[in-house]
Amino acid sequence: MDFKLGDILKGEIMDFTHEGNGVMKKDNFAFFVPGGIIGDKVEIKIRELKKHYGTGSIIKIIEPSSDRANNDIVSFSGEIPLINYNYSKQLEWKRHKVKMDLLKFAALSDIEVKDTLGMDHPYRYRNHMQIPVGNRKGKAVLGFFEKGSHNIVDMDGSILQPEIGDEILDTIRKWVEKYNISPYDRRTNKGILRHIGIRTNKDNQAMVIIVTATDNLPNSKELINVLKSKEGIVSIYHNINNQKSSPTYGRKYIRLYGEDRLVDYLGNFKFSISPNSFFQVNRSQAKILYSTAMDYLEPSMEDIVFDIYCGIGTISLYIAEKAKKVYGIEYIKAATDDALENAKLNKINNAEFITGKAEEVFPDLMSKGIKGNKVVVDPPRKGCEPEVLEAIVKLNPERVVYVSCNSATMARDVKYLLDNGYEAKKVQPVDMFPHTAHVETVVLLTNSGSKAKK
Ligand SMILES: C[S@@+](CC[C@H](N)C(=O)[O-])C[C@H]1O[C@@H](n2cnc3c(N)ncnc32)[C@H](O)[C@@H]1O
Repeated sequence: MDFKLGDILKGEIMDFTHEGNGVMKKDNFAFFVPGGIIGDKVEIKIRELKKHYGTGSIIKIIEPSSDRANNDIVSFSGEIPLINYNYSKQLEWKRHKVKMDLLKFAALSDIEVKDTLGMDHPYRYRNHMQIPVGNRKGKAVLGFFEKGSHNIVDMDGSILQPEIGDEILDTIRKWVEKYNISPYDRRTNKGILRHIGIRTNKDNQAMVIIVTATDNLPNSKELINVLKSKEGIVSIYHNINNQKSSPTYGRKYIRLYGEDRLVDYLGNFKFSISPNSFFQVNRSQAKILYSTAMDYLEPSMEDIVFDIYCGIGTISLYIAEKAKKVYGIEYIKAATDDALENAKLNKINNAEFITGKAEEVFPDLMSKGIKGNKVVVDPPRKGCEPEVLEAIVKLNPERVVYVSCNSATMARDVKYLLDNGYEAKKVQPVDMFPHTAHVETVVLLTNSGSKAKK
């Protein structure tokens, strides 16, 4: 069938993309449909046509899916595209996705993929929010990008951050209105306010980060006064980001009030978090993820473990407590600095952190004859570099625990390890980001003894 822009098609949403858009097929050609939920019968209008797929917007839901969740949260659902899909179905879909990726990219058909570990109350789980400031007719709007657009819609009352975050946002919104603080406009490079960062900890304390385009933060005294009068706000920063595009935070931070760091906990460990530190966004699920990784690793006091892509060393600390030695490898210097600081804070002295690219550092350690018997990898979405996998095979550890935020690249890497003498033993998906299409997975691979030829 020949499709044209603007054509109207009818069909059923069968799947989600990794971004959480619905997928509808027509004559074996896939259309990505924002807002579509598996099981919806819809009428769509074709908005875009590429060689291998198209996109369409829903004109009408002919028959809603029986798995639609009963809530009205639509305005900022670009952030949480599966919000209207029943949560238990989301967990099933995530498990299925991991299973299909292992089949497709690692030819693993007989491995049991366990049920996704989800949250009992899958709301208000984010302990770090970066809320963009938009421009509506010259006025600042604090909210989120509307699904499929560059419009920012007001967000009064989030289901993602703890209540204290909502109160902070409300206070800032009133200050913006009272003093007519202008939003930054990317196109003209004019205006002031860009983002509001809110970090919260287990004890319901908060760090607020006000991001502006220049050094000028007008009426800052008034803002500090209203914010510091609120219970729980322990730190306020002004961040200056004069770059035209992302990332959210610029390089320069000025502390306006209170503590320079926020203290938080994961399991038994204490973390000291600066405004730009990476820290797991979903604390309670991170604990589950790491405990699963530890169950699979089975650390003992004779073990020497490599924690590759270690970030601020969270997994390294978990391991260090139960092993002889841990080497953490990470290429962001600020993260390894944090990792060292966190190790000290927790009186861990058997963890060493090396700053550098894993694909260079890890093979280099191997060539220097540094030995280890277990490996954890927790790579970014693109998975492990080939050099890292080759070095793992050379090291020949008895266990490899693969923690992944992208099951497709994980399955590709697992395939390499399977082809080189490893067996996949256990697979556990964990839902770190309810209502998004992201799924975290922990895989245990053990050395099957004989190295198969590639
Ligand atoms: C998914 S995070 C894992 C963080 C950490 N394990 C945790 O749970 O907090 C991946 C980490 O790998 C780092 N990274 C990305 N590419 C890298 C590379 N080529 N070499 C070393 N580290 C890298 C990133 O900076 C990030 O901290």
